[in-house]
Amino acid sequence: MLEGKIALVTGASRGIGKAIALELAEKGATVIVNYAGSEQLAQETVNEIKEKGREACLMQCNVADDESCKQLAEEVIRQYGRLDILVNNAGITRDGLIMRMSEEDFDQVLDINLKGTFHMIRHFSKYFLKQRSGRIINISSVSGILGNAGQANYSASKAGVIGLTKSVAREFATRGICVNAVAPGFIDTDMTKGMPESALAEVNKMIPMGKMGDAKDVAKAVAFLAGEDASYITGQVLCVDGGMAI
Ligand code: NAI
Repeated sequence: MLEGKIALVTGASRGIGKAIALELAEKGATVIVNYAGSEQLAQETVNEIKEKGREACLMQCNVADDESCKQLAEEVIRQYGRLDILVNNAGITRDGLIMRMSEEDFDQVLDINLKGTFHMIRHFSKYFLKQRSGRIINISSVSGILGNAGQANYSASKAGVIGLTKSVAREFATRGICVNAVAPGFIDTDMTKGMPESALAEVNKMIPMGKMGDAKDVAKAVAFLAGEDASYITGQVLCVDGGMAI
């Protein structure tokens, strides 16, 4: 279904990004696995894709760094001549109550989650527009829709991703480029593993389906938005959250 397509997934060394990279590869895409620092883990993602008989390569880039994103875009076009699917997944949390939140923690989260997504879209936009085709899928969060105590920085960044998604969707709509967001709820990854048992029990109570999701659940939604079946869908936010944001 995605045979012949070139896909780039940011922050694909582990968690949801890795699951997305594997899912897109499973569907036939050649996957560029981006990572910031963890080359060894990212290489494992590449190896797993190759074991499936698909093509993959590694590209290092800190998405918070505008110049690195520009170079990444140039390198992708130099090697592959095009990009069909861009998944902006890289993200971090620096949780804390607003009264004690440092400006550094606020800025870091905004720089990676929101500006990183902006940098990537901006530097790939000229290629997408020239191709007159493409899919951009941004990973937001239910925290960006509902807000979350202790996550003012993260929620602001993820709400920003939704605004960015809708605006770019409008800009690109006549050029055959679809831009959507996926908003996961609580997904079992390293990002959520640090939570204490008591907090986890509380979380499960907030989820109508009563359990956390799996990275694969998010990956399957992304693969749908990247595929032909979603060619008339743009500017949407698809929640993958067991009903949290109903
Ligand atoms: P994770 O912490 O396991 O993975 C995040 C990935 O992003 C890592 O591979 C990390 O190296 C990479 N990354 C961090 N900063 C980067 C940078 N500056 N440049 C490039 N890569 C960078 O987290 P997880 O859970 O897999 O999250 C993936 C995305 O899903 C994030 O955007 C997160 O905000 C979002 N999300 C996760 C939820 C969850 O419950 N796990 C819920 C809602 C959204």
